[in-house]
Amino acid sequence: MESRRDFDIVAADWDEHPPRVKLIGDIAATLLTQVVPTPEMDVLDFGCGTGLLSLHLASRVRSLTGIDSSSAMLEVLRQKAVRQGLANVKTMHLDPDQGDVISGQYDLVVSSMVFHHIQDIELVLRQLHAVIKPSGTLCIADLDLDDGLFHEDPTGVFHSGFDRDELRGMLIRAGLRDVHDVLAAETTKPIAAGGERRFTVFLMSGRRD
Ligand SMILES: C[S@@+](CC[C@H](N)C(=O)[O-])C[C@H]1O[C@@H](n2cnc3c(N)ncnc32)[C@H](O)[C@@H]1O
Repeated sequence: MESRRDFDIVAADWDEHPPRVKLIGDIAATLLTQVVPTPEMDVLDFGCGTGLLSLHLASRVRSLTGIDSSSAMLEVLRQKAVRQGLANVKTMHLDPDQGDVISGQYDLVVSSMVFHHIQDIELVLRQLHAVIKPSGTLCIADLDLDDGLFHEDPTGVFHSGFDRDELRGMLIRAGLRDVHDVLAAETTKPIAAGGERRFTVFLMSGRRD
């Protein structure tokens, strides 16, 4: 099994990568076609990183809690929120793969480009389901199957993208209803074998009863 990736060492430069910022911006735009954030909502961004997705939502909702296993990524988010005058952004250092338990109650739980770094997907889905308020929504964006080519460095990549049917089954087993998915974004990048490849990102959504 691949060892864990150290996101602390990349946190400071994470946002200095225009294709990444565009990809997450496209995911955010698609997310906003699926859910309507409102000022009454408490939102959780699981694996929030530097907040590339979180900060598309924070100004529209009551609270935005970013959870991440990297304290350096969380610190970048915290500083960006301060600069933007967003007093409703909270951060929580937490890793379910290491036995931590996600807490709180949220109207909307989002997660972008994180699940391929998660060892035990079903455990995290059960935890996320447990913190969604009744009738609340879970939205997960991640890579479609990528043959292991998206990441140049496979460290900490536990899934080479996802088969949507399999992941949909996991969401349903975790207790989500009305599970559906759309194409959220795509990007083209050079691969190690030479040439370029197109990678697609889905957005899968489900509702808690
Ligand atoms: C590829 S980055 C995506 C960041 C952000 N969601 C975005 O779209 O820009 C993956 C993030 O997931 C976090 N992460 C990885 N494994 C995690 C775990 N087991 N628990 C919590 N966060 C995790 C990493 O620290 C990193 O910030």
